[in-house]
Amino acid sequence: MRLIYNFAISPAQVNLMNLSSRLLVLIAFLLPLTAQAAEHPGYVADPERRTTGIGKFYMGREISFVMGHLAADWLNRPGRIQEEMPDQVVENMNLEPDEVVADIGAGSGYFSFRIAEKIPDGEVLAVDIQQEMLDLIERQKSADRGENIRTILGAIDDPRLPENSIDAAIMVDAYHEFSHPFEMIDGIYRALKPGGRIFLLEYRGEDPSVPIRPLHKMTEEQAVREMSVFGLEWTDTLDFLPWQHMMIFTKVEGE
Ligand SMILES: C[S@@+](CC[C@H](N)C(=O)[O-])C[C@H]1O[C@@H](n2cnc3c(N)ncnc32)[C@H](O)[C@@H]1O
Repeated sequence: MRLIYNFAISPAQVNLMNLSSRLLVLIAFLLPLTAQAAEHPGYVADPERRTTGIGKFYMGREISFVMGHLAADWLNRPGRIQEEMPDQVVENMNLEPDEVVADIGAGSGYFSFRIAEKIPDGEVLAVDIQQEMLDLIERQKSADRGENIRTILGAIDDPRLPENSIDAAIMVDAYHEFSHPFEMIDGIYRALKPGGRIFLLEYRGEDPSVPIRPLHKMTEEQAVREMSVFGLEWTDTLDFLPWQHMMIFTKVEGE
């Protein structure tokens, strides 16, 4: 049997093709929007399994208590320079001078001020849920230091950042104590521009020699699992720090 291909098409078929190509364009336009909706993995409240945290579990991990503002001095302890190498951390963020960077769980601004110096034409959005922490940041600001830091009082489930407004976000020793990690990363993800980066610093959960209580640490595997809920691409983990992972996630272009 010989197959005959007929390439001629009727006007009715042309109309149908026009309609279907318009539909395809519409679907292609809508796809990136729908791709952003991440599915909530759910929280588990389990007082029986509670250790030293709040008894609420996210993807198998118990969430820690929030560090109160009365302990803010501890964030500025001199030994932190050797333990957490903040200047090298900021150096490794490879920031452009005009970028907008959100410091989420900014605390007393230990990282916000260092980042602000690197982006003289940009802005640091220092987000925290404790107004007392933000007041500490405001009090340290002066004419030649931290002028480009804007403090934002966030909610436990919302960083209150405008959509598509930031080039990068950093969380240092903070994410493990977010009581609503899904909603927080959802908000940060929406605020990131395409190609934007998240720098997640947590004490290494895999390493028993790191002298920090277990719920204040996180394994790389756990962090990658939690970020992948949002389609964030795990770009790198820098392990030059004595005790922490510096993990980098990227919002894929066009998502
Ligand atoms: C241990 S401190 C770290 C502060 C700072 N990143 C540093 O390294 O110096 C954690 C901070 O996260 C803040 N925090 C906790 N939950 C938060 C949330 N959902 N949104 C914003 N900040 C939060 C706390 O108020 C606290 O100031």
